Amino acid sequence: MRTPMVAGNWKLNGSRESAVTLASEIASTSVAGIADNVEIVVCPVSVHLAEVSAVLKSTSVKLGAQNACAEEKGAFTGEVSASMLAEFGCEYVIIGHSERRSLFGDTNESCAARHKAVAAAGITPIFCVGETLDDRESGNTMAVVESQLQSVFDACGDNGFASAVVAYEPVWAIGTGKTATPDQAQEVHAQIRDFVAARDQQTASLLRILYGGSMNPRNAAELIGKPDIDGGLIGGAALKSADFLAICQAAAAQA
Ligand code: 13P
Repeated sequence: MRTPMVAGNWKLNGSRESAVTLASEIASTSVAGIADNVEIVVCPVSVHLAEVSAVLKSTSVKLGAQNACAEEKGAFTGEVSASMLAEFGCEYVIIGHSERRSLFGDTNESCAARHKAVAAAGITPIFCVGETLDDRESGNTMAVVESQLQSVFDACGDNGFASAVVAYEPVWAIGTGKTATPDQAQEVHAQIRDFVAARDQQTASLLRILYGGSMNPRNAAELIGKPDIDGGLIGGAALKSADFLAICQAAAAQA
């Protein structure tokens, strides 16, 4: 049985004050009923982690970060290591988001190294995969997604997803208002699970695979209602507590 999960990726948004307000609204409203059936995670920018962590303390809402360095320490200006994030109470780290891959030069290899470092620090990586519109239109969706997953097997071995979450985020659906249809998303999620199952059956059956890309309160129930869609990684709709909580509620109803 997989507990549904809804994670908010706040990206580069908010101020100290608004991050605390958003986290407080989510933590105070989410407790009754919803949080028993769905794991709720928020991922603020790293300089807001300490204050958001203080707000979430003693609540069931978990804290995540948006990236981590593959290295533990040393001459890596501008980076933050997994063990540093763990000190702030981060239980999750998003790895390989398409914005990191397309704008900041993250490669399959560097994402896999980050994934490995995060898992070694006792944090759960949320490993992002997804194809561009070009990839999809040229029939390469699964080749791209499988090469992204394969990088983790290469770095970490057959059980590379044993303590991980995967997020399928078609690049063409991120921030565009264009969502994959539930059937399109389910098809890829099922193939992701099959690909992992070929290496490790048990991991595959326990693996939570989140959908990300313009998920909102109107489409969440139908997407999360699909058998291999175990929740969502939410961008824009995670910045309004009412919308985010409505998605959490839709996920809890599937539990
Ligand atoms: P949107 O929900 O804004 O499309 O963003 C999705 C995403 O990138 C989550 O990581």
